[in-house]
Amino acid sequence: MSCIIVSSIPLIFCFIMLGITCTVIDTVGGQPSYSGFISIDCGISSDSTYIDSITSIPYVSDDQFINTGVKANISSNYITSALERQLSTLRSFPDGSRNCYLLNVTQGEKYLVRASLMYGNYDGQNRASVENPLLFDLYLDYNLWRIVKITDAAEVHRPESIFVASADTVSVCLIKSGTGIPFISALELRLFDRNLDPYTNETQTVALTYRYNVMPTTNRSIRFPDDIYDRIWEPFTWHSDWNMISTTSSVRSNFGNYFKPPSAVMQTAATPTNSSHLLFQFDYVNMGALVNQFYFVFHFSELVPNTTRAFNIDLNGNYWFKNCSPPYLVATFVCSAVPDSDSLHYQWSLDSSGVSQLPPILNALEVFTPIYHTNVPTDSGDVDAITTIMGRYQLEKNWIGDPCAPKEYAWDGLSCSYNSNSTNIETVILSSNALTGVISDDFGMFKQIKYLDLSHNNLTGKIPNVLGTLSSLRVLNLSGNNLSGSVPDSLLQKSLNESLILILEDNPNLTCTNGTPCKLTAEIGKAKKIPILVIVMTVCVVVIVVFLLVFFFVRRRKAKSTGGTLKLKARPFTYLELKKVTNNFENLIGKGGFGNVYRGSLSDGTPVAVKARSQSSEQGTKQYFAEVQHLIRIHHKHLVSIHGYCMEGNYMALVYEYMANGNLNDHIIGKTVSDITSDWKKRLQIVIEAARVLFIQIQD
Ligand SMILES: *[C@@H]1O[C@H](CO)[C@@H](O)[C@H](O)[C@H]1NC(C)=O
Ligand SMILES: *[C@@H]1O[C@H](CO)[C@@H](O)[C@H](O)[C@H]1NC(C)=O
Ligand SMILES: *[C@@H]1O[C@H](CO)[C@@H](O)[C@H](O)[C@H]1NC(C)=O
Ligand SMILES: *[C@@H]1O[C@H](CO)[C@@H](O)[C@H](O)[C@H]1NC(C)=O
Ligand SMILES: *[C@@H]1O[C@H](CO)[C@@H](O)[C@H](O)[C@H]1NC(C)=O
Repeated sequence: MSCIIVSSIPLIFCFIMLGITCTVIDTVGGQPSYSGFISIDCGISSDSTYIDSITSIPYVSDDQFINTGVKANISSNYITSALERQLSTLRSFPDGSRNCYLLNVTQGEKYLVRASLMYGNYDGQNRASVENPLLFDLYLDYNLWRIVKITDAAEVHRPESIFVASADTVSVCLIKSGTGIPFISALELRLFDRNLDPYTNETQTVALTYRYNVMPTTNRSIRFPDDIYDRIWEPFTWHSDWNMISTTSSVRSNFGNYFKPPSAVMQTAATPTNSSHLLFQFDYVNMGALVNQFYFVFHFSELVPNTTRAFNIDLNGNYWFKNCSPPYLVATFVCSAVPDSDSLHYQWSLDSSGVSQLPPILNALEVFTPIYHTNVPTDSGDVDAITTIMGRYQLEKNWIGDPCAPKEYAWDGLSCSYNSNSTNIETVILSSNALTGVISDDFGMFKQIKYLDLSHNNLTGKIPNVLGTLSSLRVLNLSGNNLSGSVPDSLLQKSLNESLILILEDNPNLTCTNGTPCKLTAEIGKAKKIPILVIVMTVCVVVIVVFLLVFFFVRRRKAKSTGGTLKLKARPFTYLELKKVTNNFENLIGKGGFGNVYRGSLSDGTPVAVKARSQSSEQGTKQYFAEVQHLIRIHHKHLVSIHGYCMEGNYMALVYEYMANGNLNDHIIGKTVSDITSDWKKRLQIVIEAARVLFIQIQD
């Protein structure tokens, strides 16, 4: 009997392929086609295209897929005659934390996507080494695809994934997360058949770990046109006690084969030189994938006519599959039904079973790792709304990829709510974005919006009624525009019953009820007539509230931050770097509960304050993380923001922006009585803005 079959440690399900009347799907005559391919050579000049000499696939420049980043050539030291053409140029992304390529796909179709990366010392800085690897992240849409770690300039990285398109575009994003400037040499997208690769579906993507052509006739990889899907089958030859057997007849994949290995790969196989078992092992190497979980796929085909060959397959000493007897010149497979994750070391043993006249064989093998979709993409209605708004006001922002996910890289100006089954836009801040024209009804499409700030633009016309229907809206700031007409009653009502903070000041033509000029603005407008003492008291109360909020927030963070990994946008510093930054901790500017604070400056001259944890400090690691996480999220001109952090053994420190003009406290309270009486309005503004930032943070 033939084998194959999909199995896992206990055999879970089984397809007897010969049972199905052999519908042979040979490539429908003629030449294989690359019509479903997108092949991008990053960094070549914008109008150039070429036909690759090995695969005959046409490549195009990446200019039409991305408008950020800079082109570069690898150093001539790394250019050899064997180097693939796509690797000699690249695009790097020194600016911005997230840069994305956007590719058109068809929703519901299955694709293979592959990036190629070779550093090649393109910047002349010799950045990639074992001691100082180049590190950054690659995301496929909103899911982490690969943590790229480059330790050698000549090394070629080729992360590959198979995914089902969830929309009409897919983004490949390079994210600055570690010590390296992200770059990419080539990007390839291949349309798959929907029934190819059973591990991939709407909710699960897989990343390739290995794909081997066992005992090939040449040491070159096999890909298009031999493989019509342009998968790359690397040569696998490293067993000295293996023999190669081969055939010149073609090996077909029939109807039930979910993997359809190319004939050229299946025409060669390994067989043990002198025994009835074939042994090989696989050790888990962290390839920057997220999980230690593997799907194994073994491809077999009998290459010797009129013989009987049968074998059992064991994994780490446990029975995996019994009596596999590959059919002659037909590709068959045994694969995991669920991922294996029990071990870091996998040893396979293929042993002849009773009737066999010949030892076991192995033609090819693939190993995949699941990528679980941990981030919930932004609600599609919200995505439509924000993209329509972006187009309508021609916003020049680097807004690519999912607006809210991953959380750390939500679009600038937005904040979102994250629940287990939905992600929604909660805050839209488009103040001072030179918006012109009327306020679009599309702002009414954000069903969960809490905070909308369109202040200090050139917006004209009436305030649309639809804003009054947004039931979650708590703050609407339209100040500093040129709006006219009367304010919708629904908004005025909400403002009166205090469910909405409505800020409308500096819109000279705006009227409230009965065409009377609008007096209704934030507290600022009313405060004018109130005696100074009351102002001072109000300020104090607000300050206390702000600090209570901060306190509350830090507490919550602390509670949450146990477990889980810390993912930081600020950059890590080493102790030695800090020593240099502070000129050997020369300039002590303060002492706090956490420890001493030193003044210093970064290599680009930016002044910073370095807060080092003293050994006697009560604050432990958790508090440190809480503070770091908290500060990283807050970027506001009146609050200190963080540049980086250091954690080396017991040594912990935070690197803050240096506030030359004093801190928030000084800004609000002032230092002298005359300070208090002057410019109180500005101060209230500061408090409101700071409270707003904190409000947004707390909503997370
Ligand atoms: C890369 O090399 C080509 C030809 O050698 C040259 O035309 C091109 O300007 C170079 N690109 C960059 C970014 O240096
Ligand atoms: C996708 O595949 C995974 C793993 O095989 C499975 O658990 C999940 O139910 C599948 N989802 C769909 C929508 O078929
Ligand atoms: C095959 O193995 C047997 C014992 O395991 C050994 O005696 C014999 O020399 C081997 N033959 C070859 C050709 O290696
Ligand atoms: C092998 O089997 C085929 C039929 O499958 C037959 O035509 C052929 O003659 C056989 N060859 C030998 C050497 O027995
Ligand atoms: C608003 O428009 C006026 C004229 O239409 C222009 O003078 C002014 O600079 C604009 N302001 C902004 C912030 O774009």
